[in-house]
Amino acid sequence: MKKRNIVLANWKMNPETLGKAKEVFNSTRLAAKTLKNTDVIVCPPFPFVFPLSKLNVPKNLFLGTQNVFYEIKGAFTGEVSAGMIKDLKIKFSVVGHSERRAMGETNEIVRKKMAAAFDAGLSPILCIGEKERNKEGSHLSFIKNQIKECLFGLQKKHLVGINIAYEPIWAIGKSYKEAMSPTDIHETVLFIKKVITELFGKDIADGSRVLYGGSVEAINAGPMMEYGNIDGFLVGHASLTPSFAEILKAADLRK
Ligand code: PGA
Repeated sequence: MKKRNIVLANWKMNPETLGKAKEVFNSTRLAAKTLKNTDVIVCPPFPFVFPLSKLNVPKNLFLGTQNVFYEIKGAFTGEVSAGMIKDLKIKFSVVGHSERRAMGETNEIVRKKMAAAFDAGLSPILCIGEKERNKEGSHLSFIKNQIKECLFGLQKKHLVGINIAYEPIWAIGKSYKEAMSPTDIHETVLFIKKVITELFGKDIADGSRVLYGGSVEAINAGPMMEYGNIDGFLVGHASLTPSFAEILKAADLRK
């Protein structure tokens, strides 16, 4: 089956007010409406998720959360369970973003969050990516280990159609000049698919999607989509600007 492209807007801890969030969401909604081959997932900060979920959206626009906790309920101050997210009719959650990992989230915690999200019926987007690259290729074993440890023991049926966001940490939050080249993205995606094939079989690898994240902007989105062997993007800072519409258009060119 043909896989639709996905572009995920990770708003991080932005914008400052619900009013501004509605403005950004509205522009995204208008841009999403014009797309043919692409689904758009907007992940706002938690307090904005519910009010935005009440607005009308085109059928290719979805809301998601930037995080999810692994326990079902109880004394976990500040956390939000997968069941609570599902109850709002939200389908997607980002899991293991590097900014969460920098706050202490280990592969084991990420694995538990993936399992909890799947169990509640959510579609988690697993974030992976190396801190640095060197000639010896240590980033490859780093990525392989992340995939292995974050997906270890998960039910195979849950892995069908899994979405992975590959985000080299050194490229996040910069500008297009420092983003990864399409050729390097292409090679890394092949490597990720190879690892998934080794671990879970070719069917799971073929059905999976790999999104690229890390300084995707309107200027580099086209070449990345054309030559990067990806199924879409995870976009941070640019997803809050008017140029996000151009990124969506660039993604949509892949049929
Ligand atoms: P960026 O963020 O597009 O600002 O680099 C990507 C991300 O959310 O990881």
